[in-house]
Amino acid sequence: MLPCRPLSLLVILVSFLMVPGVTVKKENFKTCEQSGFCTRNRAYADDAGAKGALWTSPYELDSASIRFKNGQLHGTVLKTTTINEKVRLPLTVSFLRCGAARVVVDEERRMKGEIELRHGSTIRKERYNEAGKWALARDPELSESASLEIDKAAGYTKVSYGPDGRFAAIIRHTPFEVQFQRNGEIHVKLNDRGLLNVEQWRAKVDPPDGDSGEDQSTWWDETFGGQTDSKPRGPESIGLDIAFPGYDHVFGIPEHADSISLKETRGGSGHHDDPYRMYNADVFEYELNSPMSIYGCIPFMQAHRKNSTVGVFWLNAAETWVDIVKTKSSINPLAVGISSKTQTHWFSESGQLDVFIFLGPTAQDVSRAYGELTGYTQLPQHFAIAYHQSRWNYVTDEDVRDVDRKFDKYQIPYDVIWLDIEYTDGKRYFTFDPNNFPDPLGMEDQLDGSGRKVVLIIDPHLKNVPDYQVDHELKSKGLGVKDKDGNLYEGWCWPGSSHWIDCFNPAAISWWAHQFKYDKFKGTSPNCFIWNDMNEPSVFNLPETTMPKHNIHYDGWEHRDVHNLYGLTYMSATYHGLLERKKGVVRRPFVLTRSFYAGAQRVGATWTGDNLARWDHLAASIPMVLNNGIAGFPFVGADVGGFFGNPDKELLTRWYQTGIFYPFFRAHAHIDSRRREPYLAGEPYVTIITQAIRLRYQLLPAWYTTFYQASVEGLPIVRPQYYIHPDDEHGFAIDDQLYIGSTGLLAKPVVTEGAASVDIYLADSERYYDYFDYTIYQGAGRRHTVPAPLEKIPLLMQGGHIIPRKDRPRRSSALMKWDPYTLVIALGKDGEAEGSIYIDDGESFDYQRGAYIHRNFQFGGSALWSEDIGTKGPKTGEYLKTMAGVKVEKLVVVGAPQSWQDKLSVTVIEEDAKSSTTTSLQFHAAQGNKAAYAVVKNPNVAIGKSWKIEF
Ligand code: NOJ
Repeated sequence: MLPCRPLSLLVILVSFLMVPGVTVKKENFKTCEQSGFCTRNRAYADDAGAKGALWTSPYELDSASIRFKNGQLHGTVLKTTTINEKVRLPLTVSFLRCGAARVVVDEERRMKGEIELRHGSTIRKERYNEAGKWALARDPELSESASLEIDKAAGYTKVSYGPDGRFAAIIRHTPFEVQFQRNGEIHVKLNDRGLLNVEQWRAKVDPPDGDSGEDQSTWWDETFGGQTDSKPRGPESIGLDIAFPGYDHVFGIPEHADSISLKETRGGSGHHDDPYRMYNADVFEYELNSPMSIYGCIPFMQAHRKNSTVGVFWLNAAETWVDIVKTKSSINPLAVGISSKTQTHWFSESGQLDVFIFLGPTAQDVSRAYGELTGYTQLPQHFAIAYHQSRWNYVTDEDVRDVDRKFDKYQIPYDVIWLDIEYTDGKRYFTFDPNNFPDPLGMEDQLDGSGRKVVLIIDPHLKNVPDYQVDHELKSKGLGVKDKDGNLYEGWCWPGSSHWIDCFNPAAISWWAHQFKYDKFKGTSPNCFIWNDMNEPSVFNLPETTMPKHNIHYDGWEHRDVHNLYGLTYMSATYHGLLERKKGVVRRPFVLTRSFYAGAQRVGATWTGDNLARWDHLAASIPMVLNNGIAGFPFVGADVGGFFGNPDKELLTRWYQTGIFYPFFRAHAHIDSRRREPYLAGEPYVTIITQAIRLRYQLLPAWYTTFYQASVEGLPIVRPQYYIHPDDEHGFAIDDQLYIGSTGLLAKPVVTEGAASVDIYLADSERYYDYFDYTIYQGAGRRHTVPAPLEKIPLLMQGGHIIPRKDRPRRSSALMKWDPYTLVIALGKDGEAEGSIYIDDGESFDYQRGAYIHRNFQFGGSALWSEDIGTKGPKTGEYLKTMAGVKVEKLVVVGAPQSWQDKLSVTVIEEDAKSSTTTSLQFHAAQGNKAAYAVVKNPNVAIGKSWKIEF
């Protein structure tokens, strides 16, 4: 061993040099112990736990107050305080058409404004009740069929609702508790452990000497990192425990660098010490396997057990923490699925208690209902799902042109090149540096020549200098965030001293949108799109790298109440700006945001922020991307190559081979990193990376169809095992392999150094074919070793699927627009297969008026046919005409039956054709473990028409 030591030391040293400053500055961010309300709510839980059966929750629903009308129940919950006061908490339980139920608890005294604020503050007195205005797509419609049954004697109220009345909410009055049942079985319980905690408003009164009552040390102000939060309303947190009886796994509540199956946080195996935190923050070089909050958050959780998924959405934009405890009441604690329970405990610093409950029964049902509430993923422009080339920074417009030419020279496709903050004139957004970017229009014109785009960064902090018109207008129009005294808030970010736009203000939104007009943002063309960064918001000179909680927003709300919404309001304003760039020309905007909240899926894409060029960060990107999809914001990716540091060539190559499976596929790198455009990697890496990017382009029709499904059903774009195989308990926690929508494509990217194979877990007994050589893998409930030398991407096709592709390599997706299609028919063990395709112009909103093709393909009984599953609109006919010449150029039937060995042709029958035609078929016999396949070249059927091909 000894002789190896100097070498290993060297390896360690070199790896440190490769990734400078390798860990997050944890001390800048609060732990639960450093957050007053987190400590208080945990202590409350501990107290309840210690008292056990002797603990009674001090909340009761006043039976006399209950009213039920039009799908809504109203009543008053009474809290008995430690000094025996009754605090009145209005309760509204709404039963919604989408199948969800919503429970809202407010505080009457604050609703009436009957409280006093400290320090002469003029902020709003109510609990924040506008999170829904931003997060929800529309006002949720109430269910007309929900019906009430009261049993006063038994002390509970029951409401039946949901599809065929199969759901029920059973509200116990004393202590207050709500059970949600599906088909008579409890799936979700609120206040199961009695941890409901609404910290009512109270005046600050100095306790008498020697009083040993409640610990008030975190009630009135709190200091962290040298900054004092003045808390003009005092303590006001809300907390609730939510139990999922019978459920072992909970997922969601991004954004955390952790596994998709969330870990326990109060003991238990592999537990975290802190609860999962949701407080959007600029946490660069983030820690892995951690419950720390990072850039965005979505307080939506799914619980899954065999063949059942339920969910909860905690609509609150203040700092929030979630504790997770799992219990098993089986004698054998290792047994899977035996009477287990996941108990979660949620608490937020301020605002109303507002929680939605979804009863499934499938993950798809939960995603759909959540999507109906918060909106579905925006259908992106076609370029947005292709490959993006970024770095901080392309330094001149000539640099951009040069990179563009090099991609062409090396025949590597790409669609978008990105400009980071250095393109601006001294960090003044909406300007170009006149020295380095003297001709942005010429640069954009060159890109446009091959249908390419540029994305420009625009951050929410505006440089505080007298000669900057945008900041000048922000100040003069009063559109910025204010400090606690009502003056324009000033802090520090990239430009130095800065002000922050307040997009909670409708006037700020219109003003911001106006900045994107071509005559305002000079130097930009229609092929320019926008990147919103630093919108947590990031403020460099403060603890937690963000603005003080006592800052004030439009309409008198405190920053504390709305913090997690800030990024969403800002990106939405940008989205509107892009919609309105030019009168009469409306195209789908593209906005990338770093910070997000529920609802952000309606207006853009996101990425996982400042990761590291390390293998463990590559591995972590997969669960992070999957988890965002589970939480309804699936248009996400990670910086390919890793942001900080310099990946070696193997890591860079493997990262591309992984990145092609991110819904948002962008390479990006820190300003101090070495240039790493794929053509610089040297051979064999350039060729291997090019093949990976081309694979993404080949499968763009399948990706676009999957995005379409997300845009109408809210389903994840890349899906974890439990979505596809909800009955296979052994697969629920698997998060290192992923399915592309419902295409049947299953990828397991290589995320370890020096790997030559991967083990792919197959849940079912269907045949899986290697995407490239058709090797068959089959066998349920076990792992199968798939070779993965550097040039090989582990990608399987589940039998039973038809996958649309475009096989002609081009420079950009725009240049593929009129290319013919290939259909790969991966036959299932029953000899059948099915798939679909969605196509539109990839840029306008005409699809909303019927300008699209949506077809179902089916193979069965030796025939393949295409049928229309779209709905016609005023623009359908016109669109179909433009697509008449776009054909299917190839069919590949994988797993073709041996009986086809002598078959030489197939018969093609196309809608409207005078007669059928024949075309040739080539049969390739099975070889070893490789499936037989047949190729039909040029069946010459239009992609937009109905047809049948008989084999
Ligand atoms: C932080 C972002 O996370 C990173 O991607 C970007 O390059 C830098 N800001 C500079 O704008």
